[in-house]
Amino acid sequence: MAQKTNQQVNPLGPESKEPRSDEESGSKTSAEELKRKKRIKLAIYIAAFAVFQTIVILVFALIVMRVKTPKVRLGNDATFHNVTTGNSTSPSFDINFTTQLRVKNANFGPYKYDSTIATFMYKGVTAGQVTIPKGKAGLRSTKKVGVTLNVNSKDLPSSANLAGDLKSGLLMLNSHAKLSGKVELMFIMKKKKSVEMNCTMTINLSSKEIHSMICE
Ligand SMILES: *[C@@H]1O[C@H](CO)[C@@H](O)[C@H](O)[C@H]1NC(C)=O
Ligand SMILES: *[C@@H]1O[C@H](CO)[C@@H](O)[C@H](O)[C@H]1NC(C)=O
Ligand SMILES: *[C@@H]1O[C@H](CO)[C@@H](O)[C@H](O)[C@H]1NC(C)=O
Ligand SMILES: *[C@@H]1O[C@H](CO)[C@@H](O)[C@H](O)[C@H]1NC(C)=O
Ligand SMILES: *[C@@H]1O[C@H](CO)[C@@H](O)[C@H](O)[C@H]1NC(C)=O
Repeated sequence: MAQKTNQQVNPLGPESKEPRSDEESGSKTSAEELKRKKRIKLAIYIAAFAVFQTIVILVFALIVMRVKTPKVRLGNDATFHNVTTGNSTSPSFDINFTTQLRVKNANFGPYKYDSTIATFMYKGVTAGQVTIPKGKAGLRSTKKVGVTLNVNSKDLPSSANLAGDLKSGLLMLNSHAKLSGKVELMFIMKKKKSVEMNCTMTINLSSKEIHSMICE
């Protein structure tokens, strides 16, 4: 730091030359020396202030104004209602549940997103869908959106080995959603950001609980 300020004082060379010419003429007085020291001090203050300003601007540009991609995932908790799983000769599932979608926004400004659809799939086949209304995740906060939906095996081809899964007591569903929206910084700067949710949830059918939730 000290070296940097010294370097920045150097460009003020002409001023430090002045006393030297005084020395040559032999008319150096302590008053002039004092003046010279004052000027150097002032130059150091100005340089230090410039360095400080630069740091403030850099921090602002690198931390506050940097746009971070928000994150979307499903909460780890869910409440299940009316879990029906058919029987061994005609396996099926029909489950209603309530959970949370979490939009995590680490930006120094709100993230406003449009309405979208979250899709839940079993072995690549759509088992249920739910509309996520448009909303806003505030400055450096997580918006929690409650979702209630039904997932069922109506569209599942009979070739799928559903009976095996039901026997194990675990049902694995993949959920996907794409949010598109804008991050707003300092009320003026707007940057488009779309975020994808890709979560795999496994439901324990006997305890009617989330067995595992893995989000990318
Ligand atoms: C299951 O659904 C039926 C009719 O749809 C309803 O009457 C009953 O209260 C539900 N049970 C639970 C535990 O939600
Ligand atoms: C299995 O469920 C189907 C459809 O609900 C029904 O027709 C059949 O009788 C059931 N089989 C047994 C063994 O319970
Ligand atoms: C389950 O969800 C379906 C579709 O959303 C709905 O029609 C049905 O009433 C729900 N049943 C219960 C018991 O909540
Ligand atoms: C979601 O995750 C699965 C498993 O890693 C992957 O195969 C799939 O491509 C992902 N989908 C998207 C849209 O990222
Ligand atoms: C599902 O939940 C029940 C009851 O809590 C438990 O006994 C069982 O081990 C769970 N199944 C798995 C595969 O973890």
